[in-house]
Amino acid sequence: MSSGWHTASAPGKFVILGEHSVVYGKPAVTLAVDLRMTVAVRRSKWNTMNGERLDFRRQAHIRYLTRDLNHAIDMLTCSEIPVGSGMGSSAALSAAMAMALASERGEHMTEEQVMREAYEAEYFAQGNGSPMDASTCVHGGGVSINMPDPDGEFLWRVERNGRSWSFNDLKAPEMTFVIGNTGIRAPTGPQVDKVHRYMDRSHFAREVVDDIETVTIEGGKALRSNDVEALGRLMTQDHKLLSILGVSCDELNRLVNASLPYSYGAKLTGSGGGGCMVALTDRPEKVCEAIKSRGGTPYVVRTGGRGATMEPEPPKVPGVRRRASR
Ligand code: PMV
Repeated sequence: MSSGWHTASAPGKFVILGEHSVVYGKPAVTLAVDLRMTVAVRRSKWNTMNGERLDFRRQAHIRYLTRDLNHAIDMLTCSEIPVGSGMGSSAALSAAMAMALASERGEHMTEEQVMREAYEAEYFAQGNGSPMDASTCVHGGGVSINMPDPDGEFLWRVERNGRSWSFNDLKAPEMTFVIGNTGIRAPTGPQVDKVHRYMDRSHFAREVVDDIETVTIEGGKALRSNDVEALGRLMTQDHKLLSILGVSCDELNRLVNASLPYSYGAKLTGSGGGGCMVALTDRPEKVCEAIKSRGGTPYVVRTGGRGATMEPEPPKVPGVRRRASR
């Protein structure tokens, strides 16, 4: 702790297989990455974020997380995770902030308590979706959800609106992925609603979701056995299924197609409509070039990001004095 700050960080994540279908209780596999969100809080006279006065009512996650707070706080946030891009920046913010606020109250939360608090903040802000992002950003490493034959440690189970999600630790081998950000911000809620409407109307859409389930189960096995060729093929197949569901877009397809010649496979990741795609590759420089040449922003990420954790120092935010006198 420095100058009364309580600081925590949490990793970003990407969905390797199973986004959207997981909302209906189907399996998914997610991996935390080595890009982090850091949040520091301390008691203050006014609510501020990165040195600016902030009205918490206008920021739904923060409003939820500070609902029982009876004093103002200064907040510092620093994100390596591209914001609003499907890489879990909001879940990582919620997880890190929940931990930092608990520390400020003099309390310690278990990993599961942090996950539940972060998920409730996500649900409050978005109104739909699964606890997948919150679970991955809190646990770190790899996480499998509702897999029929999980072999990692059981983490927790979450139930909501008649659906349930069982989370297990997934020991994924170290792998390199390239994330390509389209730069288009596409909030998760409307994308989830779009798929919901399609599934309500169409038997075909429900069959596509069943196909995503099959691909995800196979992909989980390929991941555990480090079979990058099979995994890549299944990722590309999943991208096609997600495109049929209507959640891809021209920009994502361009980045996926540009990456494929240098990758085992590539797909959109997260809710789609913009945001990011991910390629599994052992030629990251080539994939980065291909993504740049199509107007995207590439990030080379390593798997195995550690979960949410307390940090000794608040982040350095340009232009903000961390030791400002109060
Ligand atoms: O775009 P993201 O990181 O919010 O991922 C959303 C994943 C979905 O399956 C589309 C929704 C969810 O909450 O599971």
